[in-house]
Amino acid sequence: GKQIKLKEVEGTLLQPATVDNWSQIQSFEAKPDDLLICTYPKAGTTWIQEIVDMIEQNGDVEKCQRAIIQHRHPFIEWARPPQPSETGFHHVAQAGLKLLSSSNPPASISQSAKIIDLLPPSFWENNCKFLYVARNAKDCMVSYYHFQRMNHMLPDPGTWEEYFETFIDGKVVWGSWFDHVKGWWEMKDRHQILFLFYEDIKRDPKHEIRKVMQFMGKNVDETVLDKIVQETSFEKMKENPMTNRSTVSKSIMDQSISSFMRKGTVGDWKNHFTVAQNERFDEIYRKKMEGTAINFCMEL
Ligand code: A3P
Repeated sequence: GKQIKLKEVEGTLLQPATVDNWSQIQSFEAKPDDLLICTYPKAGTTWIQEIVDMIEQNGDVEKCQRAIIQHRHPFIEWARPPQPSETGFHHVAQAGLKLLSSSNPPASISQSAKIIDLLPPSFWENNCKFLYVARNAKDCMVSYYHFQRMNHMLPDPGTWEEYFETFIDGKVVWGSWFDHVKGWWEMKDRHQILFLFYEDIKRDPKHEIRKVMQFMGKNVDETVLDKIVQETSFEKMKENPMTNRSTVSKSIMDQSISSFMRKGTVGDWKNHFTVAQNERFDEIYRKKMEGTAINFCMEL
């Protein structure tokens, strides 16, 4: 297996490079009209990044081909400088920060204090917009498992049975899915947070993309909206070298093990979970998500 040693911040496992740059990341200076895309890993980060860029570029495919998605929407956790918006309209600062939340779920007041502690404070101070995408836990787990198999910067996931426990225990990079999703869900009405679901975007992309457009304060034509729907489909993004990570070296991501654009479906968990695992997971889920009125679609 790979010898990747993760590090911890406030009980949450992170990649060593993130922890090593922690003070720089924390001192990131957000501007009031910055938009931060926030996701738990494998929830559809790349998808929403491409959607946001397509809206910004008013559906101009060539402009969206100007660079790979990781450069158009740099991850704040990699401490790369922000990309100024070419249109000058909306400054998409940094994308893809996976919010940290406490590993022991406290009351919502202290939890929000904790969240504010761990995100670069300037995002809160400037009342920035947050675009959060949530994906159901089971599909996230499956996607993350395959991602850890092919990504040499992440620990080997072990067998599926082993990974099942690792994921439930939140012993993965960016911590527990439960804490992450719950934390943002509880914050959503207190800040400018657009809370989206992967499954909704899959079911009715135009409707969800329109919401994103409105949240960004942009207005694109119906025909452009239709084009964005087409261009951000799984099939298109899988073929697109600017989104499919094909430019990433094989020593970092080995796509012969598993594609970055793997399946892009809702319900692939059914091909991985045994009946016993599914029952156990549902019970754990009920306990961990108790008191949260969040509802995930598990199949389309
Ligand atoms: P699967 O592994 O289930 O296929 P992230 O970008 O957060 O790392 O998430 C990656 C997951 O989103 C992968 O899930 C990937 O296939 C899926 N994905 C990426 N682009 C997509 C799209 N346009 N439509 C649907 N799913 C997409």
